[in-house]
Amino acid sequence: MLTKEVMILRELLEAKKEFVSGNHIAERLGISRVAIWSHMEKLRSQGFDFEAVRSKGYRLTLRPDSLNEALIRALLPRAAKDLNVVVRDRIDSTNSEAERLLANGQEAPVLVLAREQTEGRGRLGRRWHSSDNGNLYASFAFRPEVSPARLSTFTLWMGVNICECINSFFRIESNIKWPNDIHIEGRKVAGILTEARMDADQTRDVVLGIGLNVNGDTNDWPEDLKVIATSIRQETGSAQDINRFTAALAGRIELAYEQFVSDSHRAALKEKWNAYDALQGREVSLLQGKDKITGIARGIDVHGALVLERVDGSKLLIRAGEVTIEK
Ligand code: BTN
Repeated sequence: MLTKEVMILRELLEAKKEFVSGNHIAERLGISRVAIWSHMEKLRSQGFDFEAVRSKGYRLTLRPDSLNEALIRALLPRAAKDLNVVVRDRIDSTNSEAERLLANGQEAPVLVLAREQTEGRGRLGRRWHSSDNGNLYASFAFRPEVSPARLSTFTLWMGVNICECINSFFRIESNIKWPNDIHIEGRKVAGILTEARMDADQTRDVVLGIGLNVNGDTNDWPEDLKVIATSIRQETGSAQDINRFTAALAGRIELAYEQFVSDSHRAALKEKWNAYDALQGREVSLLQGKDKITGIARGIDVHGALVLERVDGSKLLIRAGEVTIEK
């Protein structure tokens, strides 16, 4: 259910810079003018501000810069308008919080966001640097009715959609490094960590964790990160609206999820992967046990495995691991 604050924000955001009369808001929400005022006071305490003119009504003059639940909900596009959104100030990991919420019966889908993570995690047991610096730490939790075998393309499909959403929203060119890294000019800007719980033949739940460096100042990062990572702010030269982006991303993820569940995503996955594949035609290597394997990356197969062409022309399918670009 939408709160009155979210409904007020929707009315004011829809009007853009125009005033909206108090009577109109009161009628739409079925509340009194006094009640509108008290909801606006609540919003003011979260960093919003409003201009009130007696004969005209209200308009929105200030929005908070940091993640705000009411604002994200008010900005959600139609595809995601019923999405549950939870924002935490500080949490161990949004993936862990999403898993706890699901275990406690939380309705899915739900989007869990945090301003800071104390135990943000990445693939292969790595840590995900997650200070309160204007970056995005987000987990979408679902209960998909699909067999575990179908999940092999889930992260890749979500990855190309995230990549496309980043590119169109920020007008930049990112690409995807199999299986879960999003890069801009060879530097990592986002990572995806999918965690699923399943029974033998059924998926119980899936959590899609996304860490995106939005407004982080790369100068504040640990030395080892500075050389391999970047942020949207660094690439575009300006601070970005994290609430608006999060709402747009939620809309994109919801649509992508529906296509995934209905299994109508396959042709689009191939097409989008070819468009955003950072490894296509590159010489890459990876470790399998103690052996270093090299080859030319030739896209993905129908199950999401990386296709590697060896020197002898044979094709090797890589289902897991960390790939390094050699040339
Ligand atoms: C990777 O590149 O290895 C994946 C990084 C995923 C990080 C995100 S941040 C939000 C969510 N919560 C976590 O603990 N991890 C993911």
